[in-house]
Amino acid sequence: MSGHGTPIPMTAHPSGPLTGEAQVPGDKSISHRALILGALAVGETRISGLLEGEDVIDTAKAMRAFGAEVTDLGGGEWSVHGVGVGGFAEPAQVIDCGNSGTGVRLIMGAMATSPITATFTGDASLNKRPMARVTDPLELFGCRAVGRAGGRLPMTIVGAAEPVPVRYTVPVPSAQVKSAVLLAGLNAPGQTVVIEREATRDHSERMLAGFGAEITVEDTEEGRVITLTGRPELKPQTIVVPRDPSSAAFPVCAALITPGSDVLVPGIGLNPTRAGLFTTLREMGADLTYENEREEGGEPVADLRARYSPDMKGVTVPADRAASMIDEYPVLSVVAANATGTTMMGGVKELRVKESDRIDAMARGLRANGVTVEEGEDWWSVEGLGAGNVPGGGTCESFLDHRIAMSFMVMGLAAQAPVSVDDGSPIATSFPIFEPLMAGLGAKLERA
Ligand code: S3P
Repeated sequence: MSGHGTPIPMTAHPSGPLTGEAQVPGDKSISHRALILGALAVGETRISGLLEGEDVIDTAKAMRAFGAEVTDLGGGEWSVHGVGVGGFAEPAQVIDCGNSGTGVRLIMGAMATSPITATFTGDASLNKRPMARVTDPLELFGCRAVGRAGGRLPMTIVGAAEPVPVRYTVPVPSAQVKSAVLLAGLNAPGQTVVIEREATRDHSERMLAGFGAEITVEDTEEGRVITLTGRPELKPQTIVVPRDPSSAAFPVCAALITPGSDVLVPGIGLNPTRAGLFTTLREMGADLTYENEREEGGEPVADLRARYSPDMKGVTVPADRAASMIDEYPVLSVVAANATGTTMMGGVKELRVKESDRIDAMARGLRANGVTVEEGEDWWSVEGLGAGNVPGGGTCESFLDHRIAMSFMVMGLAAQAPVSVDDGSPIATSFPIFEPLMAGLGAKLERA
């Protein structure tokens, strides 16, 4: 598959111990939202700790194309001069969101209620992913969407000249769909209501409130009912982006399975809608502690300490935890392979429509390295072999998916023989410093 230029084959060798501090980059979800809401505020928003991965850079470029002034001030500090709600200009060129489902879906929402037209595209992975889940509710506001068969990119959105507010129950657990509808609701008069039956990450709600929008959240029998009053004047903010729990997952899991390890991962966002992996790891018996718990920029934060945990046991991960760890199942399956007993993961159909079909991608790579996996449409299970007993020696396809590539690199650190991936280039979408950071802890990673 193409999409990230020249493939970068990578190999992880048995390593250890992993020790020291892992300063992982800023949160991807929060970084996208900070740029987009900054672009919709009136005046200058300052962002520090922005994730400077390809996905977020593509969103920064898109915000420039819609008329915002976005400046990289260096050292993770960014400035966004916004154009105000309803102030987006029509982009002169196609908007290329690269690998990022979050980028394209949130930006479609943000422009759908303005009288402008924009065409969106992405890489080979993104252009396979379903967009109808966002364009269906966006069309209720009065916009039109024309894409390829099956609601695939490239796709053109003709924004609504006279948008109407919407009441929408999100049919799949998806923070991207919820957020797209809320962003569209910003430029619709009156109240837009989004109902989610299962709670998903709530960074949009928190940040909209931070920017001064009128937004309420109510837990009812129907689910979480989010009500947004349209046409606010968003006030520019100073945003400190917490470090990404989904990136922290890699050094944390690597430390848990690599003999003798003791790694500190400071300043990690522990929003309960994101922290499901860490709860699960502790249930498995991981030596994983939260130190120095605090609040930063409206998000709970702690320093994570992970130590080698040779006695972890397989667990059944409850289906209702899926949304809070949806991006972490690939690396959890690697930990599960190093635990004893079976780990069962249910209610995870959404994994099939991520950057890759993550159940299929992980099952193939795990099997190629001597691990037994069973799967159904919305579940999968991994047979644990016990600490240090994964044979390894196989080569895995990453399918243009950063989290698949990083998961197999983690697996190789604690396997009996090296583990390779055909292409590590997608890692740069979310974790551009993955290789030096892991090497700094003592991981033996190598580019072919
Ligand atoms: C994200 C939501 C999730 C997640 C993605 C980031 C977000 O996707 O997988 O990496 O920032 O809103 P879905 O909304 O498709 O579940």
